[in-house]
Amino acid sequence: MKKLIIGNFKMNTKPSEMKAYAMSLATKTTESKNEIIVCPPYTSIAIAKQFLDGSNVTLGAQNVCDVEAGKCTGEISASMLKDAGVEYVIVGHSERRSKFKETDRLVNKKIKTALASGLKVIVCLGEDLVERQNKHANAVVKKQLDEALKGIYENELESVVIAYEPIWAIGTGKNATVKDVQSMTNFIRREISDLYSEKAGQGINVVYGGSVTISNYKKLISIPSVSGALIGGACLDVDNFAMMCRENF
Ligand code: 13P
Repeated sequence: MKKLIIGNFKMNTKPSEMKAYAMSLATKTTESKNEIIVCPPYTSIAIAKQFLDGSNVTLGAQNVCDVEAGKCTGEISASMLKDAGVEYVIVGHSERRSKFKETDRLVNKKIKTALASGLKVIVCLGEDLVERQNKHANAVVKKQLDEALKGIYENELESVVIAYEPIWAIGTGKNATVKDVQSMTNFIRREISDLYSEKAGQGINVVYGGSVTISNYKKLISIPSVSGALIGGACLDVDNFAMMCRENF
């Protein structure tokens, strides 16, 4: 079954390092049946585009401004990303929510702006450890999801990927169990069915992220309600990442 394998480079891979990575990934994934997306830092997007053109790998970005125009020093607009050859953008990553104080309302604005420019969005949701221990994980994810999708029409959901990334599993080496991932991705699908339709809930892409590695990716991505993975640290090793991209799930 075709899955989405997404690499989030975070603040790694300089322009001077990107060429070798892109050339290697392109060569190693020619036979892949999966949809592969890499999200390098802004400064490495142009070089990634140059060396991924014509390959099986699609380009994503890690963030986008919530408005299309205006006086926004230091920001990058959705149409700029589109013009640079980017097809996907990650929105609402927990690192942006916590370190850069991004709210659900801002995440919703970013999604709308990105969709209006023809970008696809990867919307990140997930609870922290205390919320999970207090059995609030479903309520937290439901609120983030409801707020993120406010004003988004059902026909736009084909351009929306939901990434369930429990905060306690990001970069910690503690990935969620198959049971946790199964349960939350099914919960997200049911919530989308309630908000839109049964068809929408079944059709939406819901990926998992949080300490996905070469040794656990197969069991996590093979879960039927999981459409793929959003991979941080483990995507930086091109051989390992390419191996995950080549897998038949
Ligand atoms: P790690 O795979 O390094 O845990 O990061 C996950 C993540 O935040 C991807 O967006």
